Amino acid sequence: MTDNHDIAALIRTIPDFPKPGIQFRDITTLLLDPTGFAATVDRLAAPYVGTVDLVAAIEARGFIFGAAVAQALGVGLVLIRKDGKLPGVTVGVDYALEYGTDRVEMHEDAMVPGARVLLIDDLIATGGTALAAIRLVRQAKGEVVAAAFVIDLPDLGGAARIAEAGVAAHALVA
Ligand code: PRP
Ligand code: ADE
Repeated sequence: MTDNHDIAALIRTIPDFPKPGIQFRDITTLLLDPTGFAATVDRLAAPYVGTVDLVAAIEARGFIFGAAVAQALGVGLVLIRKDGKLPGVTVGVDYALEYGTDRVEMHEDAMVPGARVLLIDDLIATGGTALAAIRLVRQAKGEVVAAAFVIDLPDLGGAARIAEAGVAAHALVA
């Protein structure tokens, strides 16, 4: 049984990484636990069985969970990558991080108009990354059905911010 797994207990917090004042939520300890990892994937995927056409996952840690969730749901996987990594024609959006700035890109032909997309990442903090990903999917005329995260840092307001953009956030650990 994977249901009773305490996922929160498998995630450690490392203070002052990568900058002083940041409480870094480290999922590498969760990944080392195969049943905890499996429970995480099951819980991320369960609400969306039969309701989405694609999973879109955000580089880099989002790929780990997004790939597994796409397989669990039996749908394709779209990679939302950092600047300059994708070989085809891309659409891109710049965004602010809890620490620094970045840009995400996606292949412009990654989805057909109207595709129902589940966005997956490991963590939502300020929501800047998820909002940029939502804008990317919408540029490609996809519909973001929901966004699912292993971890929400509610004090940073990301889930509320993406709700304002019309996307419900689902997180396993807050
Ligand atoms: C982390 C995390 C999310 C993002 C959340 O990624 O994996 O993608 O930050 O922060 P936000 O809600 O404030 O935008 P990071 O940019 O550190 O990249 P990585 O996954 O490549 O380590
Ligand atoms: N991405 C943004 N903020 C983070 C945090 N506190 N821990 C891990 N990843 C993050």
